[in-house]
Amino acid sequence: MKMNTEKMSQRLTVLALTGLALFTLSGCDVFAFPSENHKSSSAVFNSEVSEKTTQTEIEKLQEQLVETPDVSTSDWNLILVNQANPLADNVDFEPYIASSGEVLDARIAQDFEAMLAAGEAEGIPFVFVSGYRPYELQQQIYENVYWGHLNNDNSEAEAKELTEEYIAIPGTSEHMTGLAADISDPALYHLDNGLITEFEDTATAQWLYENAADYGFILRYPSDKEGIIDVKYESWHFRYVGRENAQYMDGNNLALEEYIAILQKNEAIREQISELSE
Ligand code: DAL
Ligand code: ZN
Repeated sequence: MKMNTEKMSQRLTVLALTGLALFTLSGCDVFAFPSENHKSSSAVFNSEVSEKTTQTEIEKLQEQLVETPDVSTSDWNLILVNQANPLADNVDFEPYIASSGEVLDARIAQDFEAMLAAGEAEGIPFVFVSGYRPYELQQQIYENVYWGHLNNDNSEAEAKELTEEYIAIPGTSEHMTGLAADISDPALYHLDNGLITEFEDTATAQWLYENAADYGFILRYPSDKEGIIDVKYESWHFRYVGRENAQYMDGNNLALEEYIAILQKNEAIREQISELSE
């Protein structure tokens, strides 16, 4: 059958328009990209991936946590006082007056007396030389020692350096907290009140090094931490941190600075974990 060109063109136009109409009516979604279905399945996929990533990050952070007692760096008995962490003012606490007349924070009195009583029951003698010192007393001690060095042919700089080996700059002494106690052997008291390195060789010192942690005390300035602590080795200076902390520090050979650094790192990690878990 023959068709002229005009008719053929008309038929083709009709066919094309019909096709277009059907195509539109069918609601074909070929051009509707992305479809709702595609959208929701990719969102679910993305959120699952992100949840897994967060979980992995949390697990990685948890692995970095160091196992320690469940304590906080803001606990009263963990106060860190040194040149980098001076006290702004005199500290307020309920005082306990020991039989030597020295003062401590009353919260540590029971452990302190229990420690001395336990040693004495084993025949160990103690002299409690120095406890709480208000700022003014620390300043007086600092100046006395400084002038002593100065009068001993040292320059001002040398006198300052020598003084600060053993005497904390006023404001940076933990004696200001009522949590520190200088303890010695009464037999050494005639030598600088017994606050001399040689105290370390006495039965009193050995007993304290062995047992003080069980009563919440640590040797605050040990000989192997001189690079970490800004005070030289003091064989007689004990600091209350609480039994759990003292035993942990003793068991892991940690100075207070090191222990606090571990706790601070743990606290920062826990903070990150809690942010990720929100
Ligand atoms: N002897 C210690 C460091 C003080 O003065 O606090
Ligand atoms: Zn001391």
